[in-house]
Amino acid sequence: MAIQRLDKVLGHLGVGTRKEIHKLARAGLVAVDGEVITDAAHKFDPTRSRIEVAGETLVYQAFFYLMLNKPAGYITSTKDPHGTPITALLPEECQRKDWMPVGRLDQDTEGLLLLTTDGELLHRLTHPRWKVAKRYYVELAAPATPEDVAVFAAGTLKLEGEALQPAQLYLSPDPHKVELVIHEGKFHQVKRMFAARGNQVTYLKRVAFGPLLLPPNLPTGESRELSPAEVQALYEAVDLPMRR
Ligand code: URA
Repeated sequence: MAIQRLDKVLGHLGVGTRKEIHKLARAGLVAVDGEVITDAAHKFDPTRSRIEVAGETLVYQAFFYLMLNKPAGYITSTKDPHGTPITALLPEECQRKDWMPVGRLDQDTEGLLLLTTDGELLHRLTHPRWKVAKRYYVELAAPATPEDVAVFAAGTLKLEGEALQPAQLYLSPDPHKVELVIHEGKFHQVKRMFAARGNQVTYLKRVAFGPLLLPPNLPTGESRELSPAEVQALYEAVDLPMRR
């Protein structure tokens, strides 16, 4: 990693605004490899240095990752003025300007939404080439049928003239409640797939994204950082080396 200015590194790690960081440095509260640095323009390689602020050691990370259990009523955007963006749900300590949602959930869709600051990871996770599986719990106005299972599995269903990739529909004892796994992410895809079968989605929740499951103990509207194992699983799912 290239060397960077101290104020940029600390800003990236969420220590504070540029002004606050300069003040901390001037006050002698910032140290790099045990040496107090009062000049916030000081340059160093953050991946090879021990950074301390007010006696606390900070672990440098190049990218950040969150999972959110999205409630209905929020739009999958970080700043859209036409609705409440999902970032409004994040606690103060998780607020960043560079969050990017990994794919979109409709305003009325709930469930697992990933956020990252790594653009290459985002690109791969959402590109059809990587066929990342998205699993949805779906409630329907009419019962789903074994014919729906066969049609979705065959990969013959077309939306606007374009064939969809095979999808797996799992029926349950209550045929109004099913799970569907798709491997691409077209606009309103799940709702349009059932509409094409003459049915209507009445409730939709994403329960898994690639290797990650929506944890049962993550309440609706809450978020948490991904664990190192979860981050690694995501990179492996799209054949991308982890970058630090
Ligand atoms: N498919 C939909 O129709 N809506 C979503 O939010 C996600 C997948």
